[in-house]
Amino acid sequence: MNLEKVVDDKINELLMKIDKQKLPKHIAIIMDGNGRWAIKRGLPRSFGHKQGVNVLKKILKASKNLGCKVITVYAFSTENWSRPIKEVEFLINLFSEVLKKEIKEIHEESTKIKFIGDLTPFPKNLREIISSSESLTKNNNEFLFNVCVNYGGRQEIVKVAKELALKSSAGEIKPSEINEELFNSELLTGGIKDPELLIRTSGEKRISNFLLWQLAYSEIYISDVLWPEFNEHEFFKAIIDYQSRNRRFGGIESLPTGSFEDSQYS
Ligand code: FPP
Repeated sequence: MNLEKVVDDKINELLMKIDKQKLPKHIAIIMDGNGRWAIKRGLPRSFGHKQGVNVLKKILKASKNLGCKVITVYAFSTENWSRPIKEVEFLINLFSEVLKKEIKEIHEESTKIKFIGDLTPFPKNLREIISSSESLTKNNNEFLFNVCVNYGGRQEIVKVAKELALKSSAGEIKPSEINEELFNSELLTGGIKDPELLIRTSGEKRISNFLLWQLAYSEIYISDVLWPEFNEHEFFKAIIDYQSRNRRFGGIESLPTGSFEDSQYS
């Protein structure tokens, strides 16, 4: 039996079930479980992160081919500094290496890469690679790849509140002008459309300080699979599950005309 063909057939089967008209255009991902995946195999945690990069490449490709427009991943949270220094150094080094190796292809794919978070604590060489990658790809418009590093949702909200307070005290805006739209435009995500779908791997059911404002109405899909084992098959399952949801945004399900008397609301 040709195992590769069986896998391809299964992926194609799922692909056929996806409604291309109802794709989540922006998907946020918490890539969790790298360490556990490596430990389970008797390997150092760093192997999990390396394998995590391979998976990320596959998922970026699959989402772009499908017609999604934005992927936002949580690569390093403000809380990740509390990990052993060796692991933090490994991750910082991995970000530089991956960028150096992949930026040409990212650019050729007309993908724009953007780093979201406070970059100031990172070493100069990483900040320089980030800056050159962002400027190289800034006019690309096929796909947006947001990488959240040293990012925290609460910190982001506090930062916006401070900026608006400063603008207000400088007389640039009136407090009464502060609304959701203005607040949203000041976020690190720069006012792009919120993710319709959040995928978190490894079975954990938490948001972990990720995109707190932007995820307000996102559908959440928890996959039990550890990130280094995640693949196109699991990704398409998440999208099919998303498409089965009834997104009401706090309203009610749309009902056949005439189901309710207008008088019910008066
Ligand atoms: C979570 O697993 C994963 C991370 C903190 C790092 C993820 C980073 C990458 C995959 C590299 C991405 C690189 C670029 C350039 C975008 P964990 O370590 O928390 O796993 P555990 O919960 O099993 O301990």
